[in-house]
Amino acid sequence: MSLPIVDTFGRKHTYLRISLTDKCNLRCTYCMPQEDMQFMPSRWLMQADEIKMLAGIFVEMGVDKIRLTGGEPLIRKDAGHIISDLGKLPASLTLTTNAVLIDQFINNLKDAGVSSLNVSLDTLKEERFAGITKRSHFTKTLDNIRLLLAEGFVVKINMVVMRGINDDEVSDFVRLTVDEPNLHVRFIEFMPFNGNQWDMSKIVSYADLLSGISTDFDFQKLPGELQDTAHRFQVNGGAGTFGIIGTVTHPFCSGCNRIRLTADGKLKNCLFDTTEIDLLTPLRAGKDVRTLIYLHFHKKHFAHGGHAGFTEKHAKSDYEQNRTMIAIGG
Ligand code: GTP
Ligand code: 5AD
Ligand code: SF4
Repeated sequence: MSLPIVDTFGRKHTYLRISLTDKCNLRCTYCMPQEDMQFMPSRWLMQADEIKMLAGIFVEMGVDKIRLTGGEPLIRKDAGHIISDLGKLPASLTLTTNAVLIDQFINNLKDAGVSSLNVSLDTLKEERFAGITKRSHFTKTLDNIRLLLAEGFVVKINMVVMRGINDDEVSDFVRLTVDEPNLHVRFIEFMPFNGNQWDMSKIVSYADLLSGISTDFDFQKLPGELQDTAHRFQVNGGAGTFGIIGTVTHPFCSGCNRIRLTADGKLKNCLFDTTEIDLLTPLRAGKDVRTLIYLHFHKKHFAHGGHAGFTEKHAKSDYEQNRTMIAIGG
């Protein structure tokens, strides 16, 4: 039995996010800034057996939850195979997806024991969807969210709220949760990554979101865990919930339990830390990667990769050195 992955602040890391690819079938500007992005050559990517091996090592080190991310994880040709493999591990398995391909994976997901998925959706308006994603998969996305609910999956919708772009739809998203017990919506403060034109004025803050919602709904705060990204709420008498992921104004670093593996096999100890270590090369050379993992988490900063804060000055200098969101995996 391996030792758990604990950092110098005593945080135990039990939640592994594995990015399967940096490619996507959508082109959301906040995540993938340039239309002509250079993607990783496929020989750089972790292969299915390498993902299985690394995931197994992390589970031995105490990981009990694995989330597959992207880009869009389901565009990988062997996604179904990877889902089946990881479903056999003694850890819960889930995905963050844009849902465009979900109908092709329903049985695969069920067979692998996946019961809950996070789905990115930033608008309920078709034209706006095309504007944000630069693609016309609106109807497919909505149909697939309905399909997931009809098949009994719990669905968390992620909406990145951007001032002047989609902030007029927040209450419409809250309304979706009122009658649907398996639907949870999370409003996300827009975060800075390389090239995504972030600035503070585009954020709709945790406080502004709550005050806007309170003009349309009576709601209550729900209890949560320290490691939760979202502060959760429920409309009084409602069935589902809504939450706010306030990385910028309400960070949740003190309970952080996250480990990130990029599609090219680099380990990140924080979403915002630019120091990465390569696990894939030593794994391919037959070396034991456990010590590398312990050491990297021993160096983990308390918050935001050690950056001083989310101001325009810091975003330009620090966060521009990070990967684009699509190459991290969210
Ligand atoms: P669950 O709590 O397991 O439902 O998932 P999640 O909210 O962690 O994952 P998801 O992939 O749905 O991400 C939702 C939002 O939270 C995205 O904007 C992520 O970038 C953000 N997020 C996820 N993990 C972290 C983290 O460790 N730190 C910060 N600051 N943001 C995170
Ligand atoms: N800020 C906040 N959330 C983001 N996501 C992608 N880019 C950003 C950003 N710049 C979210 C997507 C996806 C999740 C993994 O990360 O909504 O659901
Ligand atoms: Fe964890 Fe870094 Fe996210 Fe804070 S910003 S919650 S330390 S990954």
